[in-house]
Formats: sequence, structure tokens, C-alpha cells
Amino acid sequence: MNQTKIYGHRGAKGRFPENTLLSFQQAILQGVDGIELDIHLTKDGEVIVIHDEFLNRTTDGTGFVRAYTLEEIKQFSAGSKFSSLPDYEESWIVEKVPTLKEVLQLLVPYDIELNIELKTYTFEYEGIEEKTLALVNEYGNGRKVVYSSFHLPTLLRIKAIDSSASIAWLLNQVISNPLDYIKSLELEALHLHKEMVIDNLQDWQELRKLVRVWTVNQEEEMTNLIDAEVEAVITDYPELAIAIRQERAV
Ligand code: G3P
Ligand code: MG
Repeated sequence: MNQTKIYGHRGAKGRFPENTLLSFQQAILQGVDGIELDIHLTKDGEVIVIHDEFLNRTTDGTGFVRAYTLEEIKQFSAGSKFSSLPDYEESWIVEKVPTLKEVLQLLVPYDIELNIELKTYTFEYEGIEEKTLALVNEYGNGRKVVYSSFHLPTLLRIKAIDSSASIAWLLNQVISNPLDYIKSLELEALHLHKEMVIDNLQDWQELRKLVRVWTVNQEEEMTNLIDAEVEAVITDYPELAIAIRQERAV
């Protein structure tokens, strides 16, 4: 049996402030096989871990990420905006937007995979591919890293810099003959929106080990994808997915 891996989406986003060191630490405590995170570049060219192009939704700052230096971004809280989460604590105010280097350092003691999503579909962030590969090379501790992006040229640039890098194309709509893309572009996997897969599990059966599915938060979806033995599910609730996987194994 091929066991589906459980990746924590932006850490453990369902319970903790997304893309923070706290969220990643909690996902690790929950027992994830991997974590997913999103990266952008600051004004001074630092690789930081945040989902949106804007600071507004996830921090108490405003405006474009790329308009601020790292030092300026570090003044903002990345935890105080999450008071709607069920276990919200005021102490979360100390959470900052982490750099990729800080996350890589946090992960050093743990044998887990890392999915770095490069958010390059709105801004190009020139040089982000080289910087990201260099950081992983220096601080990645040899772990499996999968680079994903909706923006295919970013992935091809990564492959051109390092032919051994694992690249995965993020898709939210159907493409014809996916295996041809995988072979031709030397993709390690496709990262598919759940709606592309859950109602068509048979269609993906042969490619199941080349497919990670996001963002899978419902119990029934988790169960069906785990039973179908896809390579990984990416979820806001890794604890729940791990419990379901455990149940299905007995
Ligand atoms: O990598 C899977 C998923 O994170 C892609 O969408 O918007 O959550 O980054 P988004
Ligand atoms: Mg993402």
C-alpha cells in the first residue's frame, strides 16, 4: 500500500495564523509529512513567507509586500489578525512574517518534506528562483523540497538552474494529456485543485503518485483521496487528515 502523505497548508492554517513559525511548528507537532508555504520578495530582495501580494489580510500592515524592506515588514504582527480562529490567543501578536531562511532553520531537526510555492503570477520578482534555490542549498539540510507555482516559467527557470530540483505545476483547471506535460517538462508532480480530482478519481488512478491535491479540508474528501492513494493531500487541518489515514489503515 502506498500511503498518502499529509502536507500542512501554510502550516496548520485551520487553527493557527497561516505561514508563521507558530503555524509550522504546530503542523510538525500534529505529525505532518510535509508543509506547504508561499513566498514573495521584499523591496530589498529577501525571500519571505506570506501568501498575498498585500500585507493587509494577514498582518497589521498595509500595502504591497514588495514596497517594504524586510526590516520594515518585521515591525508588523502576522498573528494579531487571526482572532476569528477558535483557539486564538493574544500572545500570537508576537508572530512576524518569517523569512524562508527562518523556516528552513526551524525545520532542521525534523524529517519532513517542504513544498515552496513561488507566488510569481502577479509580480515577476526577478531573481526569486536563484535566491530560493540558494537558501535551500544552504539551509535545507538535504530534505526533499518541491517547488510549485501556477506560473510555469518560474518552474522552468528553477529546472534550468538546478536540473535535479523537483518542480510541480499548480493547476486549478483541467489540461489534456497531463502525462505528456509531466514527461515533457520533467515535472515531479502536478498539484491539483481538489475539484479536478475528487469527482474523477478513476481518471487519476494511474497518475496517483504524481498528484498532490489541495486544499482538502472535508473528512469525506480526505477519506476518498487517502483511499485512492494519491501522493499527498495538502490541508488546513493536518491533524484530522492524519487521524483519518490512521483509521483507513486498520
Ligand atoms: O499549494 C497549494 C495551494 O496553496 C495553492 O493555492 O492560494 O492556497 O496558495 P493557495
Ligand atoms: Mg500556497
